[in-house]
Amino acid sequence: MQQETQVELLKELVELHDTKAPYLSEPWTRVSPERYIDPAVFARERERIFRARPLIAAHVSEIRGAGAYLTRELAGKPLLLVRDESGTVRCFMNVCRHRGAQLVGEASGCKHRFSCPYHAWTWNSSGDLIGVPHEKTGFPGLDREAYRLHEVPCEERAGWVWVSFSADRTIDVAAHLGELDGEFSRLDAESHVIYETSTRDLESNWKILVEGGLEAYHFRVAHRETIAPLFLDNLSSYRCVGQHIRSVLPRSSLPDMAAQPSEDWEINKHANLLYTIFPGSQFLVQEDHFIWIQGVPVSASRTRLRLSTMIPSSEATPEKESYWKRNHALTLYTLDEDFELGEAIQRGLDTGANPHLNFGRFEGALVRFNAMVDEAIS
Ligand code: FES
Ligand SMILES: [Fe+2]
Repeated sequence: MQQETQVELLKELVELHDTKAPYLSEPWTRVSPERYIDPAVFARERERIFRARPLIAAHVSEIRGAGAYLTRELAGKPLLLVRDESGTVRCFMNVCRHRGAQLVGEASGCKHRFSCPYHAWTWNSSGDLIGVPHEKTGFPGLDREAYRLHEVPCEERAGWVWVSFSADRTIDVAAHLGELDGEFSRLDAESHVIYETSTRDLESNWKILVEGGLEAYHFRVAHRETIAPLFLDNLSSYRCVGQHIRSVLPRSSLPDMAAQPSEDWEINKHANLLYTIFPGSQFLVQEDHFIWIQGVPVSASRTRLRLSTMIPSSEATPEKESYWKRNHALTLYTLDEDFELGEAIQRGLDTGANPHLNFGRFEGALVRFNAMVDEAIS
């Protein structure tokens, strides 16, 4: 991020801290619990958001080298990602073209031939059908070209593998990131590796989990045993950049920083940045690493969440092992506090106790995020 922008964002927070004001002077807002429990809303979100926009399917380090493959499920679709012999990442539906069995069962591996476990129809890593047992007698005249694996548009960009199920079968990640493209690329994800990934199957709507990251109002209470002392009470700011949100969560060192000349201010030393890449990926940037949180909605009330600690590859050394281990454990421990609350909210939604939920003036980023969802599905 440009120094100028860093200073601008930090100045804004210093002023909010001094005046005890909320970030924007907007009124507080109410939303209906239906948006988190109604299967019809969920179906529209899946179709018009998750199946209409580029989604991150993997980090490049997960699929390095020709023949590397992995399987994932996104937007209710089972995927096979593979780096073909020419080094290009391709994405296919993980579905056999004979009678529809799941083609690959393993989570990841390395190979160039994928043979269906049912009758052994076989494809290469470019998706060409290369083997059909008893083809001449069973399927005379079979046009192998017509039975390539079903390919899904896929693009490698900024250290991530993106896929898209859009109806026009194209993908344009730069357009999706819009104005945030340059800043997001400066995370330099390409030069990072995954230290560790933890997964959680949560009984919570995907939006509740995103919302948990968008305000600092809860830090002092929900995280009192963990990170609360590291942050200032109820202080954060955000900017919508196209469909994405950049939140700034200042640490307790902000007032000390304010006493120094602004040329010396560095945002990473005094605040965590959180990028919410619409719809469901969040990147929490800390001083020397970042966290990749990806919510994969399964139903209105269920989300599969992957949480990865991303570290610079040069720092993936045996000497630093225990440091990263501690970091990952603390992140997990802290976010589990949020996830537990998310599940509790979900349980309370259809009790009728709340005709509406409230977003206060400190929670404006939640209002904006939900407005983006509404706009996308309307
Ligand atoms: S279903 Fe895959 S080969 Fe028959
Ligand atoms: Fe939290």
